[in-house]
Amino acid sequence: MKNKFIPNVELIESQIEYLSNLIDKNKPPYTRRPFTKEYSRSRKWLKEKMIENGLEVHIDAASNLIGVRKGINPNLPPIMIGSHTDSVVGGGRFDGIIGVLAGLEIARQLSENNIKLEHTLFIVDFTAEEASEFGISTIGSRGMIGNLTDQILERKNIEGHTLREGLMSLGGNPDLIMNARKKPGDIHLYLELHIEQGPVLEQTGYDLGVVTGIVGIRRLKVFVKGQANHAGTTPMNMRTDALTAASEVILAIEKLANKHYEKQMVGTVGRLFVKPNGSNIVPGEVVFDFELRSLSEVALDEAVSIVKNKINNIASRRNISIKTEQLSVTESIKIKDEIIDGINESCNQIGSSLKLPSGAGHDANQMAKIAPVGMIFVPSKKGISHSSDEWTDYELVVKGIHAMWNALFYFDRNLDN
Ligand code: GLV
Ligand code: MN
Ligand code: MN
Repeated sequence: MKNKFIPNVELIESQIEYLSNLIDKNKPPYTRRPFTKEYSRSRKWLKEKMIENGLEVHIDAASNLIGVRKGINPNLPPIMIGSHTDSVVGGGRFDGIIGVLAGLEIARQLSENNIKLEHTLFIVDFTAEEASEFGISTIGSRGMIGNLTDQILERKNIEGHTLREGLMSLGGNPDLIMNARKKPGDIHLYLELHIEQGPVLEQTGYDLGVVTGIVGIRRLKVFVKGQANHAGTTPMNMRTDALTAASEVILAIEKLANKHYEKQMVGTVGRLFVKPNGSNIVPGEVVFDFELRSLSEVALDEAVSIVKNKINNIASRRNISIKTEQLSVTESIKIKDEIIDGINESCNQIGSSLKLPSGAGHDANQMAKIAPVGMIFVPSKKGISHSSDEWTDYELVVKGIHAMWNALFYFDRNLDN
């Protein structure tokens, strides 16, 4: 049959395993942070594979690695398949990676069988999708659509390097980001294959997920400034303990997400710095990041303002300084019915599929600002992700790639711009 996808589980397994060795061996497995030498090594490998698979490769202004396969009709905007190859510290072997490998495998089969699509195809490895040292996620996709401000580009990491320098180290050209940005109409469709990163598909017994929407995220930094003091001589009623004040804020965030919004919202504090961090010193300073996620933009904005009010109350009752700084805003998205239907049909040709929303953020959140987007999920074993225990059977990964292949052919012919 024409345009038939041939599953090659061994090849995908070997590629996932290969990349799982290009990691920072001084950090818990499988860490590959952006702007590190391991990241550059995996990029180099990816670039070589893209070329081997018939793609013309370039790096865009925002430092995304892009492979291009020309379509029959040069007047049509391209279809883009993308994801990311950076990981969180101690992350897994599948998050982001299978989405990029899906693009690579599709390019290989198109090239080897000399199959032409109507639309040009872009395969993208987006730079730094995960929460970065610069307090922001989805850096590459933000850059691709011109959603990276100068203020964000000047943010520094702990070594004092700016994000601008980071993008340049990967071959990007931050000065050109605004001019080069993709605008509405520039991309026919953005598609992404990803692991679910939650338990729903496995527990309900479906092999494939059709994503219906993606949560929005609000990330803030909180600075609590008290007075460091002797832990033995400072009476309880004469301390300004930054850590107990921070703890109160953290519990308030948990209570808010749990009680006020029930299943509608999650709130997390995953990173905390305590100064001076000594067992016999009343903590003088705490800095922590918190994030709230929900499909409802209204609920997110309301929750941020409730947390800020709670912070003011806690600060004045405890007579301590607590300030907040907004790190990032990612809007939630709803995927168009037409795309959900097309992806559902593409999945159903291979197996059973379930429609579900995404609680994780993706580059698709950014791409949705300028193009229709669609996402396919494959199950995560025990729902575990952002952990070295992350696992999806290779057969399921390949089913996801097969579904993506079907979706690509479907939307190459069936989506009006
Ligand atoms: C990305 O993995 C995120 O949802 O934070
Ligand atoms: Mn991801
Ligand atoms: Mn992730």
